Amino acid sequence: MRVRIAELPQWVDQTVTVSGWVWHWRSSGRIAFAEVRDGTGVVQCVVRAAAGPRDAGELRLPLETAVTVQGRVRRDARAPGGVELEVASLEVVGASDSSYPLQPKSHGIDFLLDWRHLWVRSPRQAAILRLRAEVVRAIRGFLDGAGFVAVDPPILTPSAAEGTTTLFAVDYFGQPAYLSQSGQLYLEALAMALGRVYAFGPTFRAERSKTRRHLTEFWMVEPEMAFCRFEENLAWQERLITAVVEHVLSHCASELAQLGRDLTRLEQVRPPFPRLTYDEAIRLLEAQGFAIAWGEDLGAREEQALASLSDRPLFLTHFPTAQKAFYMQPDPERPEVVLAADLLAPEGYGEIIGGSERIADLPLLRRRMMETGLDPEAEAYRWYLDLRRWGSVPHSGFGLGLERTVAWLGGLEHVREASAFPRMLYRLRP
Ligand code: 4AD
Ligand code: MG
Repeated sequence: MRVRIAELPQWVDQTVTVSGWVWHWRSSGRIAFAEVRDGTGVVQCVVRAAAGPRDAGELRLPLETAVTVQGRVRRDARAPGGVELEVASLEVVGASDSSYPLQPKSHGIDFLLDWRHLWVRSPRQAAILRLRAEVVRAIRGFLDGAGFVAVDPPILTPSAAEGTTTLFAVDYFGQPAYLSQSGQLYLEALAMALGRVYAFGPTFRAERSKTRRHLTEFWMVEPEMAFCRFEENLAWQERLITAVVEHVLSHCASELAQLGRDLTRLEQVRPPFPRLTYDEAIRLLEAQGFAIAWGEDLGAREEQALASLSDRPLFLTHFPTAQKAFYMQPDPERPEVVLAADLLAPEGYGEIIGGSERIADLPLLRRRMMETGLDPEAEAYRWYLDLRRWGSVPHSGFGLGLERTVAWLGGLEHVREASAFPRMLYRLRP
C-alpha cells in the first residue's frame, strides 16, 4: 500500500510503501537513518544492514536521491509525526550525487534564490507553499460563500490602473500595452453586471523598490461591490481577514509549526480591528518625534510605528486626496481626504490591503482625472467613464496582496519566500 508521509500515523504496525527523496542521511555501523520527504512531511527511515540492499554501514545515499522504501510503521514518540519506518526494502528511483548544491549548511539568500528550483524542496519552503495554497483556499471559500462571483479581468491592458510610474510595457502588435497593475477598473464594470465580484490573479508593478515587501509580480485578490459604501467595505475586509486567520489556525498547524510561528499572535486577530485616521496618525507620529507633516506619504517606518500600537490589524483611513489614486471618492464633508483605507498587519508586516469607495459621479471623476494628470477624453478610459453615464451607483472594493498576507501569517522575514519563483527588481531567474 503506497502511503503519503502525512498519513503514516494511521498505519502503525502495518507494512507500507513510501516514495520520496532523501533529505538527510546518517549511518553508524550497520544501521542507517534516512530522513525521507515526500512533500507532505518527513519520516525517519531506519535501514538495517540485513534489510538494506547492501551493508547499511557502507550504503550512502546522496541527498535528494529519489527512493521507494517498503517497511513497517513503528510508533516512536521522539520522531517527528510520532512514527518511523523500519525499512525492509529500498529501491533507488532516481539517483543523485554529491554535487547537489544545497547541502545542509547555511547558504546566503542570493545563492538560495539562484537555486530556487531546488530550494523549494526544503521542508520549510514546502510548508510556505502549502500555507499559501491554504490562504488562497480560505479567501476563495469565504468570498464564494458570501455570494461573490469569481471573474477574471484582463492582464494585457491599454492603460494604467494604479499610477503611470510602475507600468511594465509590452509591445502589442506595434501598439503599447501594459501588464495589469490591478484589475480594479474592469472589476467596477463587472460589479455593475454581477453585484459582487472578485478577481484573484497576478498583478505587475515595475517598482524600483528593494524592500522585504515588494515584488514586481504578485498575486492580489480584489473584491468589488456595487451598492457598497466605505464603512461596509471595511466590514468586508475585517470579515475576510478574520476568516482567513481562522482557516489557517485550524488547517495549517503543521506548516505553522514547521515555520516556528507564534500562534498566540494570530489568535489575537479578532474583530473589530482598530482604526486610525491619517490626521490622528500624523499627530501620533509627531508626538513620537517623527518629522512628518500633513500631506506627506507614510513610509515603512511610520507604518511600523503605527501598527505597533495594536496587536490586531489596523485600518488607516482618510488619506489626503492629493496623495491617492484618481478613482477614490473624496469625503463629501472634507474633500481634502478620501474614503480610502489601508489595512496594516501587526508585527511590522505593513500594508496588506488597500481599498476605497470609488467615485460614482461623472463630473467629479473627470475633474479628479485631470487633477492627477490623466486625460478623461483618452480612448483608453472612455469605457470607464461610461460606467458613470448609465446607472452609476455607490461602489467600493479593495485589493489584498497574497504574498504579504502569507508572509505575515507564516511569520516570514521577506515576501520573496511566499512566492514560488519570486520576481524582484534584480531577479527574473529561475
Ligand atoms: O494598495 P494597492 O496598490 O491597491 C490597488 O491596486 C487597488 N486598485 C486595489 C483595489 O482596490 N482593487 O495594492 C493592493 C495590495 C497592497 O495592499 C499590497 O498588499 C499588495 O497589493 N501590493 C504588493 N505586494 C507585493 N509587492 C508589491 N510591489 C505590491 N504592491 C501592492
Ligand atoms: Mg496601497
